[in-house]
Amino acid sequence: MERLTTNEKVKKFIDSYNQEVLREYQKEQHFENVYCYPNTYVLKNKLGIKNYDELQQKERLIVATALSVLNYENATGNFDISHLKAIHFILFNQLYDFAGEFRTINLNKGMTNFCSVHLLVPYLKDTLEHLRKDIKKVTSKKEFVSFLAKYYSNLNMAHPFREGNGRTIREFFRQLVYYYSPLLPLEELYEIDYSLMDREKLLEAIIDSIAHDNHLLELELAKGLVGSPKEKEEKVKLKK
Ligand SMILES: Nc1ncnc2c1ncn2[C@@H]1O[C@H](COP(=O)(O)OP(=O)(O)OP(=O)(O)O)[C@@H](O)[C@H]1O
Ligand SMILES: [Mg+2]
Repeated sequence: MERLTTNEKVKKFIDSYNQEVLREYQKEQHFENVYCYPNTYVLKNKLGIKNYDELQQKERLIVATALSVLNYENATGNFDISHLKAIHFILFNQLYDFAGEFRTINLNKGMTNFCSVHLLVPYLKDTLEHLRKDIKKVTSKKEFVSFLAKYYSNLNMAHPFREGNGRTIREFFRQLVYYYSPLLPLEELYEIDYSLMDREKLLEAIIDSIAHDNHLLELELAKGLVGSPKEKEEKVKLKK
């Protein structure tokens, strides 16, 4: 049996309690009538699914299919608001009427209040304008990683959609790396592979980045930013 000191027991209890509170809290966030079926946290959907788990399962399948299509055939765009919306539309159009549309309510997760709904468009317009300028200044992998961390964090704070922000933002950056890598004065061609990152660590790092500490986020993104096929092979081996 696990032998814990009193201190460790208290910490373990607080951690598990926090997880529980967080889950309840996140469920409550879904408990609004604009997007959900009355008195539920199930998003109104085109398939009329009223069961939360069933909807999650269907959503996972639909989004995974759309993502694999996008892997071969990128959504076209200029890394602006329309581009972001186009990606969200492709991922969620089979399921939600709000696919490709920004949210109309304020959202929060855990302790984070995302961008106020009335500031979404100006905030994103400005952020993406800076993103398009800054990407052109990248000259090394280190700079690439620090660029990605900064804008991943900024787009996460925007959280423009009612649901599916993480998946949309990750696909947006996958396309951005794919598109810009050959145009930059880098020694290698880069691509981004999220399967090489640790999902939980990525989330922790995102939360950390809200206080403008991008260190953990940079570490995580660096794992997934792979250069030549050889480097990727080595990273996959390391992860096993
Ligand atoms: N407490 C938090 N503070 C800031 N950002 C958070 C917090 N919790 C989660 N996030 C961010 O929100 C994203 C999830 O948002 P959303 O549910 O809209 O997207 P998703 O595509 O459904 O989820 P996922 O990213 O888990 O696949 C996470 O990927 C993470 O980036
Ligand atoms: Mg989600």
